[in-house]
Amino acid sequence: MTPPLDLLLRNVRIVTGADDACAVSPPSFVAVARGRIARVGTMQTLDAGVAAHDEIDGGGALLTPGLIDCHTHLVYAGDRAREFEQRLQGASYEDIARAGGGIRSTLRLTREADEAELLRQSAQRLQELMRHGVTTVEIKSGYGLSLEHELKCLRVARALGEQAAVDVRTTLLAAHALPPEFEGRANDYIDEIVDRILPEAVRLGLADAVDGFCDTIGFTLAQTRRVFEAARALGLPVKLHAEQLSNQHGAALAAQFRALSADHLEHVDEPGVQAMARAGTVAVLLPGAYYFLRDTTLPPVDLLRRHGVPMAVATDCNPGTSPTTHLPLMLNMACTLFRLTPAEALLGVTRHAARALSLHATHGTIEPGKWADLCLWDAEAPAQLVYAIGASPLRRRFHHGLEQPG
Ligand code: NIG
Ligand code: FE
Repeated sequence: MTPPLDLLLRNVRIVTGADDACAVSPPSFVAVARGRIARVGTMQTLDAGVAAHDEIDGGGALLTPGLIDCHTHLVYAGDRAREFEQRLQGASYEDIARAGGGIRSTLRLTREADEAELLRQSAQRLQELMRHGVTTVEIKSGYGLSLEHELKCLRVARALGEQAAVDVRTTLLAAHALPPEFEGRANDYIDEIVDRILPEAVRLGLADAVDGFCDTIGFTLAQTRRVFEAARALGLPVKLHAEQLSNQHGAALAAQFRALSADHLEHVDEPGVQAMARAGTVAVLLPGAYYFLRDTTLPPVDLLRRHGVPMAVATDCNPGTSPTTHLPLMLNMACTLFRLTPAEALLGVTRHAARALSLHATHGTIEPGKWADLCLWDAEAPAQLVYAIGASPLRRRFHHGLEQPG
């Protein structure tokens, strides 16, 4: 027996995200039952007698999958406006990090904040993301850098998912930076991650994936490999901040571990891209960090395209390199700065972002069986979602078939 319909969205022009061109359908309908998409079709194929608990006439507006932000560091305390000023005066991101600022300054504030305060500050950012159309978000730890504080950050991430109308995937990023108590003892900190932090996060069910920062101011390839081996032994998928500031061959290592994604990639080379293509690893492009650090090395988008590596786009929401909660603005930057097409950018926050989180069976496109996570926009074509700088033409947002106030 077919279940009764909860929601019938009529007269919408759909970009399902299932085709690479992001074609816009003729006036169509989406029927939703038990939070999932039950049927999709053109208005001509809609039986006159179909009824649902809620019916909405979209007036011909554009309907897309709900947006997926597949790379954020949403849980942190305070801000880094002072370091922003220092960088404007000439200090580099690496200079500030080596002088004990950067990730470590957010570490201090995040450790000081209790769980309720951290939740309060992070929930504000999550609300902003949702206001711009996000229905699924990945949230990393990485500003706690000790057993106690990494678990605290992951608990906050899980709590955010429970209290807001959004799906949250959590990622343990204990290998983000070296905490001061391990100064000069990076390998000992890797032992701590591998022996204690990671197993405990897994035991408590707090982590869906494991990430690292492989770079001159992060961890070496060998240290990253140890973290990945531990993750694999515990059955968790990996991903990596790779080739952001220099080429450490992190993307190739990530691919060896069949990583879900390799992220940033400004300095990746062709063998790295080829390895990603073979492993099915998604390239997550982060134009906000590129812009905010005034980077000049572009990620090799043509190379990624040529090798058929799926490209996702995310905010990288974090206080040091990308203080933004505006995913549609990242679409604009991905096109303007990185030369993605509007269709590629949109797939980057829908189908390809779902793949980067291993959620592609249930999220990321408008197809029967998937969650009814949907955005209705005051727009007629994907290019209109992308081209206006900082606009947010979101009209209505649905999470698991329920309309959520914007
Ligand atoms: O994705 N690259 C490392 N991690 C973050 C920045 C973190 C910070 O500076 O606080 C990033 O850019
Ligand atoms: Fe990041």
